[in-house]
Amino acid sequence: MVTNTIPLPATMRALEVRAYDGARASLVLVERPLPQPAAAEVLIRVVASPINPSDLLFLEDRHGVHKPLPAIPGYFGSGVVVAAGTSMLARMLVGQRVTFGADHPLSGAWAEYALVQALSCAPLLPSIGTAHAALLLLNPITAWGLVDEARQGRHRAIVQTAAASEVGRWVVRLSRAAGLPLICVVRRAEHVDQLRAEGADYVLNSSSPDFDQTLHSLSHRLGATIAFDAVGGHLMERLLLAMPSASRLLLYGLLEEGAYSIPPERMIFERLRVEGFYMLEWMQRRGYLQTLRGFMAIQKLATEVHPSVRACFPLEEAWSALQLYRREMGAGKVLLMPGLRRGGCAPNV
Ligand SMILES: NC(=O)c1ccc[n+]([C@@H]2O[C@H](COP(=O)([O-])OP(=O)(O)OC[C@H]3O[C@@H](n4cnc5c(N)ncnc54)[C@H](OP(=O)(O)O)[C@@H]3O)[C@@H](O)[C@H]2O)c1
Repeated sequence: MVTNTIPLPATMRALEVRAYDGARASLVLVERPLPQPAAAEVLIRVVASPINPSDLLFLEDRHGVHKPLPAIPGYFGSGVVVAAGTSMLARMLVGQRVTFGADHPLSGAWAEYALVQALSCAPLLPSIGTAHAALLLLNPITAWGLVDEARQGRHRAIVQTAAASEVGRWVVRLSRAAGLPLICVVRRAEHVDQLRAEGADYVLNSSSPDFDQTLHSLSHRLGATIAFDAVGGHLMERLLLAMPSASRLLLYGLLEEGAYSIPPERMIFERLRVEGFYMLEWMQRRGYLQTLRGFMAIQKLATEVHPSVRACFPLEEAWSALQLYRREMGAGKVLLMPGLRRGGCAPNV
């Protein structure tokens, strides 16, 4: 039996991926039957869903999560729980505003309604706006997990790349809260100024001629033996060669295509380590309660910081939204909002 609070429509509008080729013609707005929640699931009326780098990878079938075609994209979002299956947790969430991970193979966040495991939802504090909350699960929890890895590994300081990204800006806040010195690496002068204004103590520009030397001396002085790298490729190689012996690099993004090459003798004798970091695996490893604890702390910090939302689009303008985001990822997040209609724009997120 399904519990719901309000009369629900029989169908919903959803974006559908018809082929994993990243082409415009393969992303279509369709009308689908409204899905029904099973015992441990809830149905959410979606308010907002951000476009993230992981969604771009998904559209080309290059992400860890694969859904059978035709598939509804969108990994994360926020909204209101409007129906639930029979489990106690699912029923407790009915009527609540939540942020969620859209983990169901037959559902996704780029739709008017999303079917989600109750365990993949987190309730919102009254101080957090529903649209803002769409940005509070993936990137902040990734940052929380990365900083947790640094704490658990007793590293004295951290290096991070793509530091002006959403994940990077959360790492700035969380490492400061944890009392861990952080060396931020960006590739544009304006991001150096932005991060300093947001409280980052050490910000290096990888385009500067003295970057490798400065990173070498600073990471040795601070004892920075862990790096969070979203870029990969040549930059990853430069980090490892500059950082102290026994350094560990957590690769969590693929912003630059291409292989890296480190002389094997450096890997061996300096005991360098490269590991993949995947937020969903970290959440499973640390458990629901630890993740929820992190999320509650993140919501408290989030009220102090205005989210960097660049634009909001209705589902029918998803292609324009994707193009805008792809052109300049660092200029702020782009949200899809199923409740908007063509021509409608940015509410006060
Ligand atoms: N493994 C996981 O579980 C996990 C979870 C969440 C996110 N991620 C990854 O985290 C990364 C950041 O995500 P986000 O949503 O926070 O990003 P975002 O806010 O959209 O920002 C992307 C940032 O990356 C920078 N960038 C792009 N290409 C670059 C390159 N080739 N070299 C250096 N910097 C580059 C951009 O700066 P410019 O202005 O200089 O281009 C921008 O500051 C992505 O790779 C994403 O896939 C991984």
